[in-house]
Amino acid sequence: MIAPIRAVFAAGQRRAFSASARDLSKVTVLGAAGGIGVAADISHINTKSSVKGYDPTPTGLANALKGSDVVLIPAGVPRKPGMTRDDLFNTNASIVRDLAKAAAESSPNANLLIISNPVNSTVPIVAEVFKARGVYNPKRLFGVTSLDVVRASRFVSEIKGTDPKDENITVVGGHSGVTIVPLFSQSSHPDLTSNAELVNRVQFGGDEVVKAKDGAGSATLSMAMAGARFADSVLRAAQGEKGVIEPTFVDSPLYKDQGIEFFASKVELGPNGVEKVLPVGEIDGNEKKLLEACLGDLKKNIEKGVAFVAANP
Ligand code: NAD
Ligand code: LMR
Repeated sequence: MIAPIRAVFAAGQRRAFSASARDLSKVTVLGAAGGIGVAADISHINTKSSVKGYDPTPTGLANALKGSDVVLIPAGVPRKPGMTRDDLFNTNASIVRDLAKAAAESSPNANLLIISNPVNSTVPIVAEVFKARGVYNPKRLFGVTSLDVVRASRFVSEIKGTDPKDENITVVGGHSGVTIVPLFSQSSHPDLTSNAELVNRVQFGGDEVVKAKDGAGSATLSMAMAGARFADSVLRAAQGEKGVIEPTFVDSPLYKDQGIEFFASKVELGPNGVEKVLPVGEIDGNEKKLLEACLGDLKKNIEKGVAFVAANP
């Protein structure tokens, strides 16, 4: 283990379903010297895997990326109290752009799982970098929004006195403030769509953690759990498991007619990444209003990412 390193790359090899060499997967974490993933820390988890940290040099980066099936990117700065995720744009946009350039070079066919905020803008940044190099595959780029669904099920269970694992709450849109749209009308508690306090808590759940950490960062433990869950789903689907469905922010057909290229919804995963983007489905009047507010902000966030790469290729 090489540490401490600014940009540690933790590359784990993991077996999914069988012991054959074909089923070994390489997962790389870019920015793994921070709260969400540190190689030494990850290496204590009892999965059948090997974990290795890499030097933060161009060679270390290329070696970490080469042959990766999944690349998780949590690199970049977290929020401090009073900041929005968009306030991170000026710092994180160039960090994500540069890591995307390295991934386009060394692991162009990997599934890219973007955690760095603002996700609504960093995902389009990665897409633009890949497009410029002729290696963009919209089926393999994912903004990680699992934490919104994890939070929503937790918060609902607290109100209803249920087990959160039994709460299946759909959350669509993006990953910041009003772009986060929980669809309680589709859950087993449709009455909750009029619970404005709950909707607000899901939309601004990240702020609770930022406030509690009081300048020391944002969610790390719940994020690591949510990120691991999503990465595991991507790997299981890659290895042939059917019916793997996760919420994620992807290049989506759902609102392209309104000029919105990326949208988070339930997505069926498969061996080639995105198998099928599932429709939003029936929503009620409250949710229609939330969705309207979401789409306006989301469009601007996406355009900001695209414009950044055009101006700073
Ligand atoms: P952190 O400060 O603890 O760690 C950041 C990591 O990024 C460190 O490893 C640091 O070395 C690395 N880094 C910084 N500059 C880099 C560069 N130029 N190249 C490569 N790596 C670089 O932060 P954290 O708590 O781990 O959060 C990281 C990011 O994840 C933040 O942007 C945060 O907002 C975001 N986040 C997203 C979600 C989500 O749901 N999508 C949840 C939590 C956090
Ligand atoms: C979260 O939802 O917890 C993350 O996006 C981090 C943040 O800034 O809130």
